[in-house]
Formats: sequence, structure tokens, C-alpha cells
Amino acid sequence: MIADLTGKNALITGAASGLGKGIAKVLAQQGALIIVADIDGEEAKRAANEFRNLGYQAISVQMDVTSIDSVDKAVSKAMNQIGHIDKLVNNAGVIGAPGWHERLEVTEEDWDFTFNVNVKGIVHVTDRIQDDMINGAHGSIVNIASVAGKMGNPDRPNYNASKAAAISYTKSSALKLSKFNINVNCICPGNIWTPMWDKISMRQFNFGSEIFSEFSDIKNNRELFQRVTELSTPLKRDQSADDIGYAAAFLLSDAAKNITGQSINVDGGRVMG
Ligand SMILES: NC(=O)c1ccc[n+]([C@@H]2O[C@H](COP(=O)([O-])OP(=O)(O)OC[C@H]3O[C@@H](n4cnc5c(N)ncnc54)[C@H](O)[C@@H]3O)[C@@H](O)[C@H]2O)c1
Repeated sequence: MIADLTGKNALITGAASGLGKGIAKVLAQQGALIIVADIDGEEAKRAANEFRNLGYQAISVQMDVTSIDSVDKAVSKAMNQIGHIDKLVNNAGVIGAPGWHERLEVTEEDWDFTFNVNVKGIVHVTDRIQDDMINGAHGSIVNIASVAGKMGNPDRPNYNASKAAAISYTKSSALKLSKFNINVNCICPGNIWTPMWDKISMRQFNFGSEIFSEFSDIKNNRELFQRVTELSTPLKRDQSADDIGYAAAFLLSDAAKNITGQSINVDGGRVMG
């Protein structure tokens, strides 16, 4: 066991697939009851069913983090079922507006869409849940940013800027909530093979970006992901959803009660600091 979360109720946004689903599984393994929240309500239901079949405690809610009304309804529904929420992982994130992977240019819509989900989404869910944490006199929040938020990227400046904003908001949120015994931290993952990376690398593969032209022997986007990741990562491997889940479990546990406002890279050493 990484951290004891027995008796804790943890809501994870964007938990129907990818990284969020992996984080939810690790938190459930540590004893938490998990609330799988996702814009795709059917997939969220399926994921919660899967978790219950594995013997974990799980419920699901449909939630669009960009809509205050949707967040309010989803959190109220979850609280009616389980009473309170004391752990939150703001994981839902996007690279751009629908179809971003089929075009090279970054559009105005990409900027708006990315900031609405990756930044305002965190604000909406935090604002809705913090009162419950304040009433319970404790709580922990983990925001999933990215090492992209600590680097520049001429190809996807909207994504990197949104993740830098998530890191910054984590610090403001940590200062605001510290007097209520609520800690707020941020994890910056490196490269994890999820539906998101499937699209990123497919775009690189299809458009033959600068990186790809150096590796003309590469046969598909999965191989491209692996090669680019190994070359850019000191530990020479990609990360897994479990790796991010372990860090989240620690940061949400009592063992991390004196850590707040930090952004922890789980990236094989790609970014130091
Ligand atoms: N995969 C990586 O290598 C990587 C690296 C660094 C950071 N991240 C971050 O981790 C998080 C998860 O990424 P992923 O790779 O699993 O992505 P993904 O696209 O595979 O999954 C994202 C999930 O979020 C949900 N979602 C999207 N918009 C939503 C909304 N408005 N409201 C609620 N749910 C919504 C989707 O339905 C999906 O289930 C993101 O914040 C991403 O930026 C991922």
C-alpha cells in the first residue's frame, strides 16, 4: 500500500479513460471510495462498474468541468449518495478543440477550449467542492498539470500555457485554502500512452513534423511515441497511469499533510525543477 485512504471519498475528473482512470484505480486500491466523474457519462458508468467488479468502492457521475451548472449537479448527486467528498483530483484535460489533431495550426477555438477545460475546469470543481472540505475541516486536492507547463512548445502553445496556468492556480489555491487545513498540490506527468497521446503522436506521424523526419524508419505512431519519449527522458522510459496514481495517493494522504502549493514532476527526469 502506498498510502492509507481508507474511509476517504475521492472524486476524480476525466476518470472514464486514460490517466484519470488509472489514478482512480490506484486510489481505490488504497481504500478510497472513488467517484468517477467524466463528460462521457456512459464511459464513466462503465469504468465504475469495472472497478466494482474488481471489489473496489466506486460510483460515477456525468460532469462537464467547463459548466458550473453541470459541476454543481454532479457534485450534489455524488454527495446525496455518499455524504461528503474529502479528496479531489482535477485530471480532466484536453489538447485543443475537437479535431485539433487533424490540423497543424492552433486556432482561436483551440485556445478557448483548452483554457476552459484545463484551467477554468479546475476552478469550477475546486470552488464547488471546497465548501464541503472546509465544513469537514480537512481536505486534499491534486491538480494534474504537465511538464509541458514548465516548457515552451511552438507546436501547441495553447496546451503548454494552460498547464502553466494550472501550476500557478495550484499555488493560489493552496494559499487560499491553507487556513482551512486543505492542501493543494499539482502533479506534472511526462509521457503516458493514453488516448490523448495516441492522437498527439498520430498528428506528428501524419504531418511528418520535424521530430518525425529524423526517424524515417518508424512504422507507426505508437513507435514514434516510444522513440521520442526514450530520447527525451533521462530514465529512458515512458511513465504509466499507475506512476501518476502513486504520486496522487501520497499527496492525498496524511503522509503529505505538510506539503502544499508544490508541483511534482513524474516524468523520468525530463524536467528538473
Ligand atoms: N497522457 C500524458 O502523457 C499526459 C502527460 C501530461 C499531462 N497529462 C494530463 O493528464 C490528464 C489526462 O490526460 P489523458 O492522457 O488521460 O487524456 P485522455 O484524453 O486520454 O482522457 C481525458 C479524459 O477527460 C475527459 N474529459 C475531457 N473533457 C472533459 C470535460 N469538459 N469534463 C469532464 N471530463 C472531460 C475525457 O472524456 C477523458 O475521459 C490531462 O489533464 C492531461 O493534460 C497527460
